[in-house]
Amino acid sequence: MKNIPLQMENQWLPFTPNRHFRKEPRVFVKANGMHFTTHDGKNVLDGISSLWCVGAGHNRAPINEAIKKQLDTLDYSTAFQVSNDQAFEAAAVITSMAPGDLNKVLFCNSGSEAADTSLKVALAYHRARGQGHRNVFIGRERGYHGVGFGGMSVGGIPANRKAFGTALLPRVDHMRFIHDPINHAYIHGVEPQWSEDLLLELENRILPLHDPSNVAAIMVEPVAGSAGWYLPPKGYLQRLRQICDKHGILLIFDEVITGFGRMGKNFAADFYGVVPDMLNFAKCVTNGVIPLGGVICRDFLYDTLMNNDSPEHTIEFFHGYTYSGHPVACAAAIASLDLFKQEDLFNRASQMGPVLGDAMHSTLKGLPHVVGIRSLGLAAAVDLLSIEGSPGKRAYQIFLDCFNKGVLVRAAGDTLVFAPPYIVENNHIDQMVSTLASSIQQHA
Ligand SMILES: Cc1ncc(COP(=O)(O)O)c(C=O)c1O
Repeated sequence: MKNIPLQMENQWLPFTPNRHFRKEPRVFVKANGMHFTTHDGKNVLDGISSLWCVGAGHNRAPINEAIKKQLDTLDYSTAFQVSNDQAFEAAAVITSMAPGDLNKVLFCNSGSEAADTSLKVALAYHRARGQGHRNVFIGRERGYHGVGFGGMSVGGIPANRKAFGTALLPRVDHMRFIHDPINHAYIHGVEPQWSEDLLLELENRILPLHDPSNVAAIMVEPVAGSAGWYLPPKGYLQRLRQICDKHGILLIFDEVITGFGRMGKNFAADFYGVVPDMLNFAKCVTNGVIPLGGVICRDFLYDTLMNNDSPEHTIEFFHGYTYSGHPVACAAAIASLDLFKQEDLFNRASQMGPVLGDAMHSTLKGLPHVVGIRSLGLAAAVDLLSIEGSPGKRAYQIFLDCFNKGVLVRAAGDTLVFAPPYIVENNHIDQMVSTLASSIQQHA
């Protein structure tokens, strides 16, 4: 394939070191199955499902066909005061996959919008039942809920606080992070068992400080993905559910990464056997092909907002996006979720997870600067010792080196993460992990 000339003057790249990128561009022009092709003809293995999105792999005909058909049938219609058939069908498919009475979907376009939507549902719900004073949100250190002000506030990403701290929401608190680098540096396909009860802090300090009667919702990622695949202690999510129930606090799971198969189940909620009050999704719902996100709400949330005395012509929940339930995105979701089912891809993810975990632990443990490895579901992370004074540099260099060797890995701080499409084969895992090992050694 011939080189495709690049004109790079106008795009400001997201979450990317722009200056360095322009010196060493990495630009995809094509994708199929597990692989990309770059503008300069390189073949690159997608070791991260393009940021946890492409569970079924790239360029899947049933999804592409559904999108083309939908474009020729109903390209777009406004979402307010009217709706479209695809949005209703997608909501029915999504809720049929969700546990418990998570039966009502509010669509949006991204994980960030899902975070802010769910926080707004929480406030509206409490207000509708006469508890408008419940306006404290609780998140967790290093939680990532996107880039909107709500998600950034409840999230616990230090860089967000550094850059935007003055503009974050008031009345937000954070629970401790869920990682113990001393006792749980290496976790291989199991839930970490803690001797300490991490949630005592919530019960004995955070809730009494704000008074539990003021707390609207607690939002967590069941597995913290963006920070680098950190697993909750055994029993943690169950206990969090009990604490929320005890105090009338809503529990929101941000399943933007864990939803639709990454844990080998429909949702992490199924994997851990805990039903949240709201479940945020995005990414894999359309196999990443077209932006779509949403919040699945339990019946009582919807019912509370519907059962009010206001006249029927008034809007019960003052929220929505121009593209909420976009028909083409919803057609893509219906086709993607059907494809996952037809090819039994969530089961495949649960079978390939241990293969990835085995390879990561057996190949990387003991290599220079490796200080931890975690695997569960179809994802695994390796922690590296930071270069003194330059946090993140070692992993970034290794990411670049892997890319040049034809493997896309994700760097988060000094952690490197693999989360391949569910169609991944043993030979892909071999290539991913051996490439990462050679890059780690090269940067020793
Ligand atoms: C758990 C979680 N929530 C929210 C988001 C934000 O999603 P988006 O980038 O689609 O806004 C992400 C993105 O990776 C995520 O991992």
